Amino acid sequence: MTDTIDAIFDAVAETAAEVRGVLGERRSYAEGHNPTGDRQLAADVYADELLEQRLLDIPAVGSYASEERDAVAEDSGSYHVASDPLDGSSNLKSNNGMGTIIGVYDEPLPAAGEALQAAAYVLYGPTTTMVTAVDETVTEYLLEDDERSVLQEDITVPADPTVYGFGGRAPDWPDDFSTFVKEIEERRLKLRYSGAMVGDVNQILTYGGLFGYPMLADQPEGKLRLLFEGHPIAAIVSAAGGASTDGTQSLLTKEATELHERTPVFVGNESLIDDLESALDGQ
Ligand code: AHG
Ligand code: MN
Ligand code: MN
Repeated sequence: MTDTIDAIFDAVAETAAEVRGVLGERRSYAEGHNPTGDRQLAADVYADELLEQRLLDIPAVGSYASEERDAVAEDSGSYHVASDPLDGSSNLKSNNGMGTIIGVYDEPLPAAGEALQAAAYVLYGPTTTMVTAVDETVTEYLLEDDERSVLQEDITVPADPTVYGFGGRAPDWPDDFSTFVKEIEERRLKLRYSGAMVGDVNQILTYGGLFGYPMLADQPEGKLRLLFEGHPIAAIVSAAGGASTDGTQSLLTKEATELHERTPVFVGNESLIDDLESALDGQ
């Protein structure tokens, strides 16, 4: 791991501790909407500003882009960070899990999946954990008392899948996707959908299975954003021996041409991703 990537992971861990500490008092809405039209919470804005400051303080970090801001914040340096500062922030109201997602690229943003050098997410659950992927190795850390300690090294997606969860309203799913979902249920996978991608993906790494936010009737590109959610999560699941797709191709082979571009997102066991791509082949 390069020193810069390690410094980025340290900055994210340090920021996560502060974000976690203020979540309770930042449940209210802020003034505006983010560039993809979501109403922003004070916590979204707080996490975004803290990450910008901490990450741009690292000399080799040349820019910071996030789901919560229109434009890239520029500095000088050869690494470029994309962030979803608070993933699943609507779960704040109901006190359910949330996360922070980071992708580290070696090209200015927007960029292709191939430019991704490392990725990480923080999960604010009963404990705060961070999962990183670098050099095709996935590691889970416990974030506690300003320390980052290894919980699990060389994480791999369990071979025998157990859980699944898909976003959006079932009546808005394409017919071939709905048929595929019925098959998944018949294989006795258990439904686990939390409304926070990070929480759901952490279950895939723990139990094996498939998470997705599909194409919808009124929004064929789905909801999730390629740079801030799709690429980094795909990189983590792929480094753990799983796979990703937008329905036809790996998310890591997709190039973002716009910062806030959306894409259908599916990640999980490679066999399930293959089956899903076959099921959607007729589209
Ligand atoms: P964000 O809070 O960053 O906008 O992300 C929410 C995402 C993702 O975490 C989750 O899987 C999905 O949106 C939930 O959406 P629905 O409420 O439409 O299921
Ligand atoms: Mn998100
Ligand atoms: Mn978010």
